[in-house]
Amino acid sequence: MSIINDIHQASKVIQEGGIVLFPTETVYGIGANAFDDEAVKKIFMAKGRAQDNPLILHISDMDMLDDIACDISFMEYQLMDAFWPGPFTIILNKKKGIAKVATCGGDTVGVRMPSNKIAHDFIKQSGVPIAAPSANVSGKPSGTNIQDIIDELENRVDYVIDGGESDIGLESTVVRVIDDEVRILRPGKITKEDIEKVISHVSIDKNVMGKIGIDEKVLSPGMKYRHYAPKTPCKLIYSDDFQKMKDAICEIASKEEKVLILAFTEDLVEFQQYTCIDIGSKNHLDEVSHGLFSLLRKIDDYDASLAIIEGLPLEGLGLAIMNRLIRACSHDYLVL
Ligand code: TXA
Ligand code: MG
Repeated sequence: MSIINDIHQASKVIQEGGIVLFPTETVYGIGANAFDDEAVKKIFMAKGRAQDNPLILHISDMDMLDDIACDISFMEYQLMDAFWPGPFTIILNKKKGIAKVATCGGDTVGVRMPSNKIAHDFIKQSGVPIAAPSANVSGKPSGTNIQDIIDELENRVDYVIDGGESDIGLESTVVRVIDDEVRILRPGKITKEDIEKVISHVSIDKNVMGKIGIDEKVLSPGMKYRHYAPKTPCKLIYSDDFQKMKDAICEIASKEEKVLILAFTEDLVEFQQYTCIDIGSKNHLDEVSHGLFSLLRKIDDYDASLAIIEGLPLEGLGLAIMNRLIRACSHDYLVL
């Protein structure tokens, strides 16, 4: 295992059936040759990932798409055209008989063409679609820089490409076209509002913010697993009425032995009497998402009895941030 940014070497590791930690514009991924079932199994082992949670296949150009997906509709092409390369994953009909382990034997395949140059060159030189989940042990926040994940994953992968901090910091938007409507299964940097500029009918799957029953069938299996969660119990609180939200946060905080409050820069002054972490400015949600996973990884350092997190309106990038926060709080979410 070595951390040398040699894309040629990394692609050789892929061709020989190894697994590689690599950067993308969203978060880091752990990649393998999507067509090599034995190699893909190593990813599931390295992450401790549930066997029914399929991986996204990453491609470098449209030629690769023909090898993995079929019966693509005009609307699906419109979406790929608008948002690729970029932080956008689309669930398509799978070409039969391929990438069984990566797709968990299903009829569909999630496909993304990353815009990050290292990711693009790495996939292209490997010459095959790269199956890759986010780089983290299952349940933990996704890795957005090597420092956060190297201890967790170093001995579980065959090669590491260090591409610095991820630009976006949140995983890609995942969508599926159902009955001429675009359904958002996981919100991300490409927002509902962005997609509406291309396709008029866009909806948000109920599981994006809702709680999922243990046996419930879901369109995107990843949504049902515990994710991003620190060991410290966390509670997310939101109201459109700031005073109401502030009063609720302070009331709950006052009853705790050792509370930690995660508040937006603008509101820190309101919680001065408590230990606070700055989430970033509500006016710069790009920066908030960029630092979010590193922030979640820091919560446990405070040894608090409860972490209270200030929420946001479910608009624009706010929806993607709240989707991650609600999981960090294991759905302990109070809307007032
Ligand atoms: O930005 C990203 O998407 C990152 C980078 C590495 O590309 N990848 C990522 O992968 O976040 P992962 O495995 O952590 O999340 C993939 C999500 C999961 O919720 C999974 O259930 C869903 O996509 N997914 C993948 N294939 C699917 C399919 N065929 N049908 C439905 N959902 C699928
Ligand atoms: Mg993940």
